[in-house]
Amino acid sequence: MKPTVAVLPGDGVGPEVTAAAMSVLQACVPVELRVGLVGGAAIDVGGDPLPAETLALCRSANAVFVGAVGGPKWETGPIRPEAGLLALRRGLGLHTNLRPSRYLGLPTPLREGSVRHADILVVRDLLGGVYYGEPRGVKDGIATNTWVQNAEHTRVVAEVAFRQARSRRKRVTSVDKANVLEVSRLWRSVVSEVGRKFSDVELEHRSIDAMAFELVKSPQHFDVIVADNLFGDILSDEAGAIAGSLGVLPKASLGPGPSLFEPVHGAAPSIAGRGIANPVGAILAVALLLEHALRRPDLSRVVEAAVLTALKEVRTPDLGGRAATEDFTAAVHRHLSWLRWAHDAEAEQAAPADWGV
Ligand code: NAD
Ligand code: IPM
Ligand code: MN
Repeated sequence: MKPTVAVLPGDGVGPEVTAAAMSVLQACVPVELRVGLVGGAAIDVGGDPLPAETLALCRSANAVFVGAVGGPKWETGPIRPEAGLLALRRGLGLHTNLRPSRYLGLPTPLREGSVRHADILVVRDLLGGVYYGEPRGVKDGIATNTWVQNAEHTRVVAEVAFRQARSRRKRVTSVDKANVLEVSRLWRSVVSEVGRKFSDVELEHRSIDAMAFELVKSPQHFDVIVADNLFGDILSDEAGAIAGSLGVLPKASLGPGPSLFEPVHGAAPSIAGRGIANPVGAILAVALLLEHALRRPDLSRVVEAAVLTALKEVRTPDLGGRAATEDFTAAVHRHLSWLRWAHDAEAEQAAPADWGV
């Protein structure tokens, strides 16, 4: 039976980059795509940014792909499209977010010499911290959000970070504000405790303020960065400066059931509908889906290689080029077919010959 992917294109450029990404996925493996509504597109139909049938669709799939949600049309309404994403994270129990960023040979705001070998994975707590803590709300001119950090939940996130570091450069940098916040002191002690089980991985602790500076000064120092929901959100966009554009970054959200894959960028309303959105973040999210959900790390590498090669030839306007979304996607498909041919030939050679005796 073919694996199923719940596809939620969402708003703005979401449907455009999703179409590009799904064409790449289908060129790699047989999959059944089941499309659903999320965000503003779902609000327009039934007033709910995460309808029950969408959540059910996601729960029954092997993986979920989301384009992007949001836009000015829904900014003043009673419920925002972004609430759909937060509900989806909670509904699927997506506890940990993986956000890789590495140098792709693109223009970057950082000194090229300091980023050429940079390759960072931000591991972010996606269900804890100030995003979901209660009480929250606004009353009598006072707004309240509560940062709750649960030890058991923190342990799960930290373990993902250490396991990821094991297959990388074996360094975890844990980020907090332990000189001020109790939630951070708990965070630091739980991460240290988990770290003792991974004696082959180096662990360092940094304060968020100093870390924000170090990350732009010496990005090559870092390997896996683990942080709570809010600091992780901020640092992962900052780490995006290594790649050079938010349009080229992917992310994966892991949970006990189907995992969710998305580009990092939002709905980019100012360029939506013009056919010029950069599909790289979405296509690299397909590479993450192949690796983490479909257990095909070999095809994941092939997709990454096709994207890197295509970027040498054609670029969308956000990267200074003139290509349309479709032109770039066509270039990826061209390289994909060559790379897949080479990949299959190599696999055939490695397999023991069957002489039929
Ligand atoms: P954004 O990522 O949509 O856009 C930031 C800038 O990057 C804009 O200049 C945009 O044109 C450009 N950009 C983004 N993606 C691009 C792409 N694929 N190709 C070319 N250029 C691209 O962030 P924003 O402007 O802060 O937010 C717009 C809306 O998206 C808001 O409603 C926000 O809440 C939402 N948002 C959603 C997600 C998500 O769905 N995961 C993430 C961030 C923001
Ligand atoms: C992200 C986004 C979301 C977040 C928003 C859109 C809810 O910024 O996925 O990083 O803050 O988690
Ligand atoms: Mn963010």
